[in-house]
Amino acid sequence: MRYPHEYESSLQNRERFWLQQAQQLHWFKAPTSACQLQANGTANWFADGELNLAYLALDYHVDNGRGEQTALIYDSPVSGQKQTYTYRQLKEEVARFAGLLKKQHVKKGDRVVIYMPMIPQAAIAMLACARLGAIHSVVFGGFAPHELAVRIDDAKPKLIITASCGIEVSKVIPYKPLVDEALKQARHETDNVIVWQRPEVIAELQAPRDLDWAAALGDVTPAECTTMTATDPLYILYTSGTTGTPKGVVRDTGGYAVALNYSMGLVYGIQPGEVMFTASDVGWVVGHSYIVYGPLIRGATTILFEGKPVRTPDASAFWRICADYQVSVLFSAPTAFRAIKKEDPTAKLMAGHDLSQLKRIYMAGERLDPPTLEWTQAVTGKPVYDHWWQTETGWAIAANPVGLTEYPIKPGSATLPVPGYDVQILNPEGEPVEPNQQGAVAIKLPLPPGCLTTIWGNQERFEKGYLTEYPGYYSSGDGGYKDDDGYVFIMGRTDDVINVAGHRLSTGEMEEILAMDEAVAECAVIGIQDELRGQVPLGLVITKDGTTVSDEDLAARLVQRVRNDIGAVACLREVLVVPRLPKTRSGKILRRVLRQLADGEQVVVPSTIDDPSCIDELASRLSER
Ligand code: COA
Ligand code: AMP
Repeated sequence: MRYPHEYESSLQNRERFWLQQAQQLHWFKAPTSACQLQANGTANWFADGELNLAYLALDYHVDNGRGEQTALIYDSPVSGQKQTYTYRQLKEEVARFAGLLKKQHVKKGDRVVIYMPMIPQAAIAMLACARLGAIHSVVFGGFAPHELAVRIDDAKPKLIITASCGIEVSKVIPYKPLVDEALKQARHETDNVIVWQRPEVIAELQAPRDLDWAAALGDVTPAECTTMTATDPLYILYTSGTTGTPKGVVRDTGGYAVALNYSMGLVYGIQPGEVMFTASDVGWVVGHSYIVYGPLIRGATTILFEGKPVRTPDASAFWRICADYQVSVLFSAPTAFRAIKKEDPTAKLMAGHDLSQLKRIYMAGERLDPPTLEWTQAVTGKPVYDHWWQTETGWAIAANPVGLTEYPIKPGSATLPVPGYDVQILNPEGEPVEPNQQGAVAIKLPLPPGCLTTIWGNQERFEKGYLTEYPGYYSSGDGGYKDDDGYVFIMGRTDDVINVAGHRLSTGEMEEILAMDEAVAECAVIGIQDELRGQVPLGLVITKDGTTVSDEDLAARLVQRVRNDIGAVACLREVLVVPRLPKTRSGKILRRVLRQLADGEQVVVPSTIDDPSCIDELASRLSER
């Protein structure tokens, strides 16, 4: 049993343990210390080490005999394209594009926003920033111009990189007009926009601001890797919090490199040369860690898939890719497998696809519900692992440590805390509870390498949001418990964050949008259960006196507002006009009661409720849906 020993060692001999892990990587200057504790309990990792992540992901492999190995496979059923890059080719593309960024005066520490579909140029753009030491901030392509504008104003990028369009199944979505609109809405001025033109749509460029990627590369000198200190930021990734303003999670360079490399072996059991297929998007943390950086640092082959688990063209997409490219590890969100199961319950479309190379299937982004786990195991005959993590941590907090010791899978559990994470379940007083008792899931400080170091430009929000509720701990925002064997069960968020089809969204933000409508007096948005997407938002609004708009028209208007402001990905498709909302005597909306009512669960009416009679009224309104 190697895991218990390694887990203990990661916490008790932190310094030695993580320095040993750091030694697995090539540093320009090796760190002499691992963990520098800060006054607030967090840590700076490998502070005097120097490295470059693009070097580790590309140049290192080219210099050490992997130049002709496939680094990246692009498979795009939506455009009919397939393309393969060796490590050498990818390095050359990245160095040339970094040269273009440099020519546009992008330098270490500058921010660059990347708003791209799932094409190789997205990964090239990220790695080119890493090569120069510019801090990239990838914004998911499903977000609307308003969301992009908010991120532009927060990150203040020197430059934006985009493509002429994305393709959603068969719908072509021109991106450039979205970027233009975002730039119009943003207060921050950006020097340049670099556009990768796709044949499906040729974007109009406004000189001198906009540059055509391919044309601008013409006379560029490839850029070398910039030396980065381990604590220099690599990227900012915005994620939903409880308010309308997204949080810019800041990731360092050295800690992230060490954590990802460690996780590739420990969590995914991937050896150099093997193929990893992470079906996610570069706009999410899963894409950053396990489409781009993790597999490449490991010397593995990564697959960049531009498609959906279903409809591109059918529910065999994942099986086809696993067979065509001899995938060892497949990773996606439970919602993707629910979509496949719905379309092809007996997995007959798997026939003819040789999955003999597939060793394991991983899921994250939301709790892996036992029926989806059991179905996936049954139809594939492969082990299926749930693992729990967050944008903030960048890699798994709880997982089955297959690289050390494989533990039996318990449905509903993400298995055991990963070495480096001291996971505790706390009661409201901040004291650890007994096994099998639910509480707030917290991580004793310091967090291991790879986790967020701050919120971009807002250290106070970082400390208030994560470090203050339970002094000495990082609050994850999730509730759950550990069983007698120490298995971690994550039961859901304790705040106003919801997970829709593996996408993290803020109900608070949707409420802010609904509340701006002239007809809305009060509103609440809650996450309710959904068979496919896990959760979907439901809006409940009270109209102002004298409002003349019909309930149906208002609902349609509000749905459109959220679609316009956040994007289609918010999936707010239902808004109900109600006479009252359940509140405490101090006026706080009882969202838990609303959720229980909407999900048809037994309602626990708190004693603090102002007017219990509104419960029956709402129950009958919700049952009419
Ligand atoms: N650009 C533009 N629009 C996008 C988009 C993107 N990158 N991604 C999603 N959208 C749009 C969709 O077109 C859809 O629009 P519509 O309302 O006009 O139809 C809407 O946002 C909702 O998208 P989605 O929830 O993805 O619905 P779907 O029916 O297209 O697909 C799933 C459902 C479950 C197949 C899909 O969500 C999925 O594969 N999820 C896995 C998510 C994932 O990988 N998460 C990362 C964590 S591992
Ligand atoms: P994100 O930051 O988008 O990765 O979302 C993180 C949140 O998703 C977590 O705080 C959890 O609420 C949820 N989540 C992710 N993975 C899991 C999992 N394996 N089990 C339960 N919840 C999960």
